[in-house]
Amino acid sequence: MSDVESGTLEPFSRDMLADPYPAYRALRERGRVQRTPAGHWLVLGYDEVSTLLTDQRFGEAAGRGGRIRLSRTQREGQHQLLGRVDTMLSQDPPEHTRLRRLVSKAFTPRSVQKMRPLIQEIVNELLGGLAGRAEFDLVSELAWPLPVIVIAEMLGIPRADRGRFKRWSDAMVATLGGDYSSLDEARRSNEELVEYVSRVIADRRKQPRDDLISRLVAAEESGQKLSEDEMLGTVALLLVAGNETTAHLVSSGMLALLRNPEQMARLREEPSLLPSAIDEMLRYTGPVHTTRRTAREEVRLGDANISRGEVVVGILAAANRDPEKYADPDRFEVARNATDHVAFGDGIHFCLGAALARLEGQVAIGTLLARFSNLRLLDNEPEWGGTFAIRGVTRLRLHSV
Ligand code: HEM
Repeated sequence: MSDVESGTLEPFSRDMLADPYPAYRALRERGRVQRTPAGHWLVLGYDEVSTLLTDQRFGEAAGRGGRIRLSRTQREGQHQLLGRVDTMLSQDPPEHTRLRRLVSKAFTPRSVQKMRPLIQEIVNELLGGLAGRAEFDLVSELAWPLPVIVIAEMLGIPRADRGRFKRWSDAMVATLGGDYSSLDEARRSNEELVEYVSRVIADRRKQPRDDLISRLVAAEESGQKLSEDEMLGTVALLLVAGNETTAHLVSSGMLALLRNPEQMARLREEPSLLPSAIDEMLRYTGPVHTTRRTAREEVRLGDANISRGEVVVGILAAANRDPEKYADPDRFEVARNATDHVAFGDGIHFCLGAALARLEGQVAIGTLLARFSNLRLLDNEPEWGGTFAIRGVTRLRLHSV
């Protein structure tokens, strides 16, 4: 496993997670596209990252990082590892196009807007538990549970199974975040999740409903060549790609607001700035810092000549603070309206869940501001976790007065 896949990223170290931006700036000043001693390329400029993600001469998507590990226990009780299955994120067209098309309708801005009342209901339910409490952890009370409940609803997971579903999803995500302390538990959770989703698939074959799993089943049956492993891979990808990222948007976004009280006041005065504020959170402190591609042929990118087969890491978070693109890039400005950031990537792999994540962010943060007129940070230096692939605060204790 290369350092990129294991979540570390030379020349950055984990103790820089709290604030990697000065290091990104220093590196970018040295070269917008540069080679590391470990032999891969780093891309730090906005235009160059944009080219990396949209130019078809770079491919293989997120490479092995986009594959999903699935395991299954056979009937005799023997452990069978299905191994890593390819997903839309790990593949180039035409496989990418086929897998993405099957689920993309559910994620268009129009389909997603229909979910606003449901998302609002879930946020109200989660915040309802905080009534009368002077202190709470935003991550465990709201940011972390919200996206997994939303995706469970979209998939058609019955309410009664939400708790189990959430536990399995959390365990899968934990190994991604580089936490290998509970590998056995992660493997068991993975098996249970695979078995559970297989059962839901079998159920929807008999009795289709209006949910995403039924749609995948219908695609398979109409001969669109979707294997059961691909269905399982798609479901797992939605959990892995959507849950931790959206949780971090809510918590890191609130942290940015709390650290910039004049911006929070501005947003309270003008709630119509909320969509712009969410995009500014994505630009300024977006959760996905890096992605990678492989050069399919020799390419000149910026001043660099990249050879065929070389791995190129795009630092999305550095591109989003490129002074050639954004004036005063280290300033957090809720009215900036920078919707062209690359926090959701770009090109054919542009985040499938972007509209959903934006909506969840708007409802969660909008409701928090409306409910609590005076929120304060309890820890000035909250804990940061994750990797350079997905970075966010793991605990954010707030005081409500
Ligand atoms: C703030 C939250 C989110 C952020 C910052 C984010 C970021 C990203 C980025 C940067 C990519 C492109 C990776 C690459 O090109 O290598 C991506 C792809 C993807 N995201 Fe998101 N994501 C978020 C939420 C979600 C949600 C809620 C879902 C679904 C429930 C989702 C599903 C996906 C999928 C399926 C892909 C692969 C798309 C493809 O390969 O065509 N994401 N995301």
